[in-house]
Amino acid sequence: MSTIKQERSDSGIPTSQAAAPAAGAAAPAQKTPRVLRKILALEDFEEVARRRIPRPIFGYVSGGVETNASRRGNRAAFDDLAFVPKTLVDTTGRTQKTTLFGRSYDLPFGISPMGGTAMAAYQGDLVLARAAAKANIPMIMSGAALTPLEQLRQEGPTAWFQAYLPGENDTITRLVERVARAGYDTLVLTVDVQVAANRENNVRSGFYTPLRPTLRLAWDGLIRPRWLFGMLARTLILHGMPHFENMGPRVPLISRTGERGRGRRDQLSWTHVELMRRLWKGRLVLKGILDKEDARIARDSGVDGIIVSNHGGRQLDGSVAPLRVLPGIVAQAGGMTVMMDSGIRRGTDVLKALALGAHFVFLGRPFLYAAAVAGEPGVRHAIKLLSDEIDRNMAMLGITAPTAMKRELLMDARSFDGLEKPGI
Ligand code: GLV
Repeated sequence: MSTIKQERSDSGIPTSQAAAPAAGAAAPAQKTPRVLRKILALEDFEEVARRRIPRPIFGYVSGGVETNASRRGNRAAFDDLAFVPKTLVDTTGRTQKTTLFGRSYDLPFGISPMGGTAMAAYQGDLVLARAAAKANIPMIMSGAALTPLEQLRQEGPTAWFQAYLPGENDTITRLVERVARAGYDTLVLTVDVQVAANRENNVRSGFYTPLRPTLRLAWDGLIRPRWLFGMLARTLILHGMPHFENMGPRVPLISRTGERGRGRRDQLSWTHVELMRRLWKGRLVLKGILDKEDARIARDSGVDGIIVSNHGGRQLDGSVAPLRVLPGIVAQAGGMTVMMDSGIRRGTDVLKALALGAHFVFLGRPFLYAAAVAGEPGVRHAIKLLSDEIDRNMAMLGITAPTAMKRELLMDARSFDGLEKPGI
């Protein structure tokens, strides 16, 4: 058995108690917040977050759309693949460093854009951006975030910006110019939000943006004092009322009558992508592609990368799990960078996506829960849990770099290799 252990992961995060200390090495001083000691996997954050975040906000974050078929399907797709590992390979030199758009990141995953972050966690957007910058991974700032995009980029130099845009040239031009002035190098356009999704769960749990000051919300806050004092009161006292800063009218987070104008997103088309391509000198990424012909058009339109995504199962219910269309899309991409999100929770999931051709992956909800549970240390803990899982899995698969993750290391979990007719 090898005694070689990484004292530090590639992300520079010291080994925590979640990973066994090296044999004979003095245990490093632990400063892990108490609540994190029982969080051994990303899924563990959810239950703690559910108890801390008011029900409407938690419901908004965790929910999918209509029957939640897409959200379920995203997870199920990973179980349909099984690893076929290579043994007796020296993997001591393994690294998770990944080059994306000519830049080196320490890990093959980043943080997906999420609009609800700063409603759930104190300074949630900034917490994610800072933790991501320290781990040298990208964090995509949501256009629906409550933090001005300029401030976020200053505090999070690895941040990308994600826009929701209507098919209106003036709005697009203004936003692209603002994002460029703020110093972002990567702009992500989300393309699966033609109209607001039918989030019945939001109606049932009383969620609305901006938040309506109802008795129900007040009660929900009162029974969650950590959120009430640690998030809401602290935010209002130290920073004033947060506003939706980066799209549509500047409306406050809590308002009796405010409305967030979204414009004609159903008018957005490839001609607007071409306009953005002319205006934006940095990397242009489309998020929400599931069709290989769309991937080809994106490439022909000069787009630098796509994120194969069904929006974490939050837009069109019953849309295919991104993992299932990934190989076909990669085959059409012709060298364009293909990334993926939706349903990734484990290191094994990351590696399965990479094996099917993703250059990089993103995860959302677990990082938001981590920020709500323990702020920046929580997000750092989440990043470390996932990178430790990937590191262990790489060793057991016999690979030393994410790019070595190939299809030959996978098979259909339900088939029997070599048998003509499956089913003994
Ligand atoms: C925003 O993108 C959401 O999914 O709520």
